Amino acid sequence: MSVNLDHDGNIRSATEEDFDRVLEIDRDSFSAPWIHNFFQSALKDIFLVLEIEKKIAGYLIACVCHDIEKAVIIRVAVHPDHRGKGFAKKLLRRCLDILVERKVRLVELDVELVQRAAIKLYESFGFKIANIIVFPSNTPGDEETFYIMRLELPEMEEKAVS
Ligand SMILES: CC(C)(COP(=O)(O)OP(=O)(O)OC[C@H]1O[C@@H](n2cnc3c(N)ncnc32)[C@H](O)[C@@H]1OP(=O)(O)O)[C@@H](O)C(=O)NCCC(=O)NCCS
Repeated sequence: MSVNLDHDGNIRSATEEDFDRVLEIDRDSFSAPWIHNFFQSALKDIFLVLEIEKKIAGYLIACVCHDIEKAVIIRVAVHPDHRGKGFAKKLLRRCLDILVERKVRLVELDVELVQRAAIKLYESFGFKIANIIVFPSNTPGDEETFYIMRLELPEMEEKAVS
Protein backbone atom coordinates (compact mmCIF):
# COMPACT_ATOMS: atom_id res chain seq x y z
CA MET A 1 0.00 0.00 0.00
CA SER A 2 1.43 3.42 -0.87
CA VAL A 3 1.46 6.22 1.66
CA ASN A 4 -0.21 9.49 0.83
CA LEU A 5 1.99 12.25 2.13
CA ASP A 6 1.20 14.81 -0.55
CA HIS A 7 -0.08 17.24 2.06
CA ASP A 8 3.35 17.28 3.65
CA GLY A 9 5.15 19.66 1.31
CA ASN A 10 8.36 18.18 0.12
CA ILE A 11 8.16 14.50 1.08
CA ARG A 12 5.52 12.43 -0.69
CA SER A 13 4.89 8.95 -2.03
CA ALA A 14 6.54 8.12 -5.34
CA THR A 15 4.56 7.54 -8.51
CA GLU A 16 5.61 6.04 -11.81
CA GLU A 17 6.13 9.54 -13.24
CA ASP A 18 9.03 9.97 -10.81
CA PHE A 19 10.99 7.02 -12.18
CA ASP A 20 13.19 8.86 -14.71
CA ARG A 21 14.63 11.08 -12.00
CA VAL A 22 14.78 8.29 -9.39
CA LEU A 23 16.65 6.06 -11.87
CA GLU A 24 19.07 8.93 -12.56
CA ILE A 25 19.78 9.39 -8.83
CA ASP A 26 20.13 5.63 -8.43
CA ARG A 27 22.71 5.43 -11.23
CA ASP A 28 24.67 8.26 -9.61
CA SER A 29 24.54 6.60 -6.19
CA PHE A 30 25.13 2.86 -6.58
CA SER A 31 27.66 0.71 -8.42
CA ALA A 32 24.85 -1.76 -9.14
CA PRO A 33 21.88 0.45 -10.02
CA TRP A 34 18.34 -0.89 -10.00
CA ILE A 35 16.30 -1.41 -13.15
CA HIS A 36 12.88 0.12 -13.75
CA ASN A 37 11.00 -3.04 -12.65
CA PHE A 38 12.53 -3.00 -9.17
CA PHE A 39 11.18 0.50 -8.60
CA GLN A 40 7.86 -0.56 -10.09
CA SER A 41 7.53 -3.33 -7.48
CA ALA A 42 8.57 -0.91 -4.74
CA LEU A 43 5.43 1.17 -5.33
CA LYS A 44 3.53 -1.32 -3.16
CA ASP A 45 5.94 -0.63 -0.29
CA ILE A 46 6.88 2.62 1.44
CA PHE A 47 8.47 4.56 -1.40
CA LEU A 48 9.09 8.19 -0.47
CA VAL A 49 10.58 10.95 -2.57
CA LEU A 50 11.87 14.28 -1.33
CA GLU A 51 11.39 17.22 -3.67
CA ILE A 52 13.23 20.50 -3.79
CA GLU A 53 11.54 23.08 -5.97
CA LYS A 54 9.47 20.32 -7.58
CA LYS A 55 12.55 18.28 -8.53
CA ILE A 56 13.31 15.03 -6.74
CA ALA A 57 16.50 15.24 -4.69
CA GLY A 58 16.32 11.86 -2.97
CA TYR A 59 14.24 8.79 -2.26
CA LEU A 60 13.82 6.02 0.30
CA ILE A 61 12.25 2.59 -0.05
CA ALA A 62 11.20 0.40 2.88
CA CYS A 63 9.18 -2.76 3.08
CA VAL A 64 6.97 -3.83 6.00
CA CYS A 65 6.50 -7.45 7.06
CA HIS A 66 3.36 -6.99 9.15
CA ASP A 67 3.20 -10.58 10.41
CA ILE A 68 6.40 -10.12 12.36
CA GLU A 69 6.10 -6.38 13.03
CA LYS A 70 9.36 -5.85 11.18
CA ALA A 71 10.43 -3.51 8.39
CA VAL A 72 13.45 -3.42 6.14
CA ILE A 73 14.96 -0.23 4.76
CA ILE A 74 15.83 -1.31 1.26
CA ARG A 75 17.35 1.70 -0.46
CA VAL A 76 18.09 5.35 0.32
CA ALA A 77 19.84 7.78 -1.98
CA VAL A 78 20.25 11.51 -2.36
CA HIS A 79 21.45 13.14 -5.57
CA PRO A 80 25.17 14.06 -5.27
CA ASP A 81 24.33 17.78 -5.73
CA HIS A 82 22.07 17.67 -2.68
CA ARG A 83 24.09 15.60 -0.22
CA GLY A 84 25.11 16.90 3.19
CA LYS A 85 21.98 19.02 3.56
CA GLY A 86 20.06 16.73 5.90
CA PHE A 87 17.74 15.27 3.23
CA ALA A 88 18.49 11.61 3.96
CA LYS A 89 17.84 12.32 7.63
CA LYS A 90 14.53 13.88 6.73
CA LEU A 91 13.51 10.88 4.61
CA LEU A 92 14.55 8.40 7.28
CA ARG A 93 12.79 10.37 10.03
CA ARG A 94 9.57 10.35 7.99
CA CYS A 95 9.91 6.65 7.23
CA LEU A 96 10.42 5.77 10.91
CA ASP A 97 7.37 7.87 11.86
CA ILE A 98 5.28 5.90 9.37
CA LEU A 99 6.63 2.61 10.73
CA VAL A 100 5.80 3.58 14.33
CA GLU A 101 2.26 4.46 13.19
CA ARG A 102 2.03 1.03 11.55
CA LYS A 103 3.09 -0.61 14.82
CA VAL A 104 6.37 -1.91 13.46
CA ARG A 105 8.73 -2.74 16.33
CA LEU A 106 11.97 -3.66 14.56
CA VAL A 107 13.70 -2.06 11.57
CA GLU A 108 16.55 -3.79 9.80
CA LEU A 109 18.84 -2.92 6.91
CA ASP A 110 22.07 -4.01 5.37
CA VAL A 111 24.79 -1.63 4.38
CA GLU A 112 28.15 -2.22 2.79
CA LEU A 113 31.11 -1.34 4.97
CA VAL A 114 32.39 1.12 2.36
CA GLN A 115 29.18 3.19 2.56
CA ARG A 116 30.55 5.25 5.46
CA ALA A 117 28.09 8.14 5.06
CA ALA A 118 25.15 5.73 5.19
CA ILE A 119 26.51 3.93 8.27
CA LYS A 120 26.90 7.29 10.06
CA LEU A 121 23.39 8.24 9.01
CA TYR A 122 21.91 5.04 10.45
CA GLU A 123 23.98 5.27 13.63
CA SER A 124 22.71 8.81 14.18
CA PHE A 125 19.20 7.31 14.43
CA GLY A 126 20.33 4.65 16.91
CA PHE A 127 20.74 1.71 14.52
CA LYS A 128 23.24 -0.80 15.92
CA ILE A 129 25.33 -3.41 14.12
CA ALA A 130 23.64 -6.77 14.68
CA ASN A 131 25.71 -8.92 12.35
CA ILE A 132 28.59 -8.74 9.89
CA ILE A 133 28.52 -10.63 6.62
CA VAL A 134 31.60 -11.10 4.44
CA PHE A 135 31.18 -12.24 0.84
CA PRO A 136 34.46 -13.87 -0.19
CA SER A 137 36.15 -13.16 -3.49
CA ASN A 138 38.75 -15.03 -5.54
CA THR A 139 40.75 -11.78 -5.66
CA PRO A 140 42.34 -11.05 -2.27
CA GLY A 141 41.17 -7.71 -0.89
CA ASP A 142 37.99 -7.78 -3.03
CA GLU A 143 35.80 -9.30 -0.33
CA GLU A 144 32.56 -7.41 0.28
CA THR A 145 31.63 -6.76 3.89
CA PHE A 146 28.12 -5.82 4.92
CA TYR A 147 26.70 -4.77 8.28
CA ILE A 148 23.23 -5.87 9.23
CA MET A 149 21.94 -3.00 11.36
CA ARG A 150 18.85 -2.97 13.58
CA LEU A 151 16.75 -0.42 15.39
CA GLU A 152 13.98 -1.16 17.88
CA LEU A 153 11.12 1.29 17.57
CA PRO A 154 9.04 2.55 20.47
CA GLU A 155 5.35 1.75 20.67
CA MET A 156 3.14 4.58 19.53
CA GLU A 157 1.34 6.20 22.44
CA GLU A 158 -2.43 5.70 22.25
CA LYS A 159 -4.27 9.02 21.97
CA ALA A 160 -6.47 9.68 25.00
CA VAL A 161 -10.19 9.68 24.16
CA SER A 162 -12.05 12.43 26.03
C1 LIG B 1 24.04 8.04 2.41
C2 LIG B 1 23.30 9.21 1.79
C3 LIG B 1 21.87 8.77 1.47
C4 LIG B 1 23.26 10.38 2.80
O1 LIG B 1 22.48 11.42 2.25
P1 LIG B 1 22.61 12.95 2.73
O2 LIG B 1 21.36 13.65 2.38
O3 LIG B 1 23.88 13.51 2.23
O4 LIG B 1 22.71 12.75 4.31
P2 LIG B 1 22.35 13.88 5.38
O5 LIG B 1 22.81 15.21 4.89
O6 LIG B 1 20.93 13.73 5.76
O7 LIG B 1 23.28 13.44 6.57
C5 LIG B 1 22.80 12.61 7.59
C6 LIG B 1 23.94 12.04 8.40
O8 LIG B 1 24.66 11.10 7.59
C7 LIG B 1 26.05 11.20 7.90
N1 LIG B 1 26.74 11.65 6.70
C8 LIG B 1 26.21 12.18 5.57
N2 LIG B 1 27.17 12.41 4.66
C9 LIG B 1 28.34 12.00 5.23
C10 LIG B 1 29.68 11.96 4.78
N3 LIG B 1 30.03 12.37 3.56
N4 LIG B 1 30.61 11.45 5.63
C11 LIG B 1 30.28 11.01 6.86
N5 LIG B 1 29.01 11.03 7.34
C12 LIG B 1 28.06 11.53 6.53
C13 LIG B 1 26.18 12.18 9.04
O9 LIG B 1 26.05 11.47 10.26
C14 LIG B 1 24.96 13.06 8.84
O10 LIG B 1 24.51 13.66 10.02
P3 LIG B 1 25.19 15.03 10.55
O11 LIG B 1 25.21 15.95 9.37
O12 LIG B 1 24.25 15.47 11.63
O13 LIG B 1 26.54 14.65 11.02
C15 LIG B 1 24.01 9.73 0.49
O14 LIG B 1 25.37 9.95 0.79
C16 LIG B 1 23.91 8.79 -0.68
O15 LIG B 1 22.95 8.85 -1.46
N6 LIG B 1 24.89 7.88 -0.83
C17 LIG B 1 24.92 6.90 -1.93
C18 LIG B 1 23.88 5.82 -1.75
C19 LIG B 1 24.01 5.08 -0.43
O16 LIG B 1 25.10 4.78 0.03
N7 LIG B 1 22.83 4.77 0.16
C20 LIG B 1 22.76 4.08 1.43
C21 LIG B 1 22.82 2.62 1.34
S1 LIG B 1 21.27 1.94 0.79
